Amino acid sequence: LHVKWDAVTAEKGGYEHFMLKEIHEQPKAIRDTLAGRIKEGIVDLSQEISLTAEELNGIDRIHFVACGTAYHAGLIGKAVVERLARIPVEVDVASEYRYRNPIITPSTLVVVVSQSGETADTLAALREAQKAGAKVLGITNVVGSSVAREADEVLMTWAGPEIAVASTKAYTSQLIAIYLFGLYLARIRGTRSEAQLKEATEELLRLPEKVDNALSDADTIKQFAEQIKNHDNLFFIGRGLDHAVVMEGSLKLKEISYIHSEAYAAGELKHGTLALIEEGIPVIALATQQDIFDKMVSNIIEVKARGAHVLGLAQDGDTELTKSVDEVFTIPQTLPLFTPVVAVIPLQLLAYYTSVARGLNVDKPRNLAKSVTVE
Ligand code: G6P
Repeated sequence: LHVKWDAVTAEKGGYEHFMLKEIHEQPKAIRDTLAGRIKEGIVDLSQEISLTAEELNGIDRIHFVACGTAYHAGLIGKAVVERLARIPVEVDVASEYRYRNPIITPSTLVVVVSQSGETADTLAALREAQKAGAKVLGITNVVGSSVAREADEVLMTWAGPEIAVASTKAYTSQLIAIYLFGLYLARIRGTRSEAQLKEATEELLRLPEKVDNALSDADTIKQFAEQIKNHDNLFFIGRGLDHAVVMEGSLKLKEISYIHSEAYAAGELKHGTLALIEEGIPVIALATQQDIFDKMVSNIIEVKARGAHVLGLAQDGDTELTKSVDEVFTIPQTLPLFTPVVAVIPLQLLAYYTSVARGLNVDKPRNLAKSVTVE
C-alpha cells in the first residue's frame, strides 16, 4: 500500500479537516490540561495561582466573562463553582459586561476565559474589572497572549494550537481548567470533604478515556447528519448543565453548517417555542442529568407528540430515554458535573458531519474569524 501525503494532509495529521483532527485531539488536550495539577490524588493549583488561602476565602462573588464558545464554558463554570464552592456566580458575554456597569468590588473575582487570549471585548472586560479593584483570573490557551500577560492570575489550558474556526478542544480544555479551579476552591474553602475531592479528582482523570469512547461511535452521528442536512431549522433541548451544552452544540452547528437552530431550556418550550414544532422537525435532546431526567423525558414526549424527530443523547445503560426517542446515542457515565465534557462530543461530531454532508468549508466558515481582535 502506498499512501500519498502532501504538506497539507500532513499538517492535518491525516484527517480531512483541522476540525476533525482537533475533535480527536481532545483526550490528549484533557490529559495535558490535568497534568501536574493533581498531587496525592487532590487538585493543587498553589504553584500557579498566587492568591493566598485568606484571599481565596475572601472572595464573595465570581464573574465569568467571555465570548462565543468560551462563554459557554463559563456557563458550566457557574454550576461548577456554585455547587462545589458555594460562591454566587454570574456569567456574562464580554460585549455586554463591559457596558452594563456590573457590580465589581475588591472581593469579586473575575474569571475571563479566552482560547486566543486576544478577543477585544474580553480584554476590555478584564481591564474594566481590574480598574474596579477586582482580581482577574485568566483561563487561556496561548502563552504570552494579552490575557496571559494582563490577568493577575493565569490558568493555562494545554490544548495546543487550534486552527479550525469552530472551537472544540479549546472548549473541553476550558471545562477541565474550570473543574480544577472549582475543586481547588472547594478544598481551600472547606466546602467539600477530602473524600469527596478525591473521588471527583479520580473521575477527572478518567475523562480522557471516556471522551475517547464517545468518539468511537461516529457512525450513528453521521447517519443523523444525513437526516438533518436538508433541514432549515432544528432544535436542541436540555435542562441544567445539559442546557449549557446544547447551547454550544447549537452554536457549532450554526457556525459550520449554516442551519438555523435554537437551544432551549426544555422547560421553557411550552412558553413559546413549542409552536414551531411540526411534523418531521429534528430535535436533539440531551438528558444526562439524573436529578431532572424525568422532567426531560416529559419534554421529549411533548415534542414527539407534535411530530418531532428526536435524537436523544443519554448515558450508557439508559433504558428509559430509548423508549421515547427516534434515535439514541449514548455516552459513558461520569459525575453529573463532568458530563458536559463527554456530552459535547456527539454534538461536535454532528456539526462536523453535517457541514461535510452539505459540502461546506468546515474549517473556515463564511463571515467568521478565529480570533476577534476588533470590536
Ligand atoms: C471567535 C471564534 C470562537 C470563539 C470566540 C472567542 O468568535 O470564532 O470560536 O469562541 O471568538 O474566542 P476566544 O479566543 O476569546 O476564546
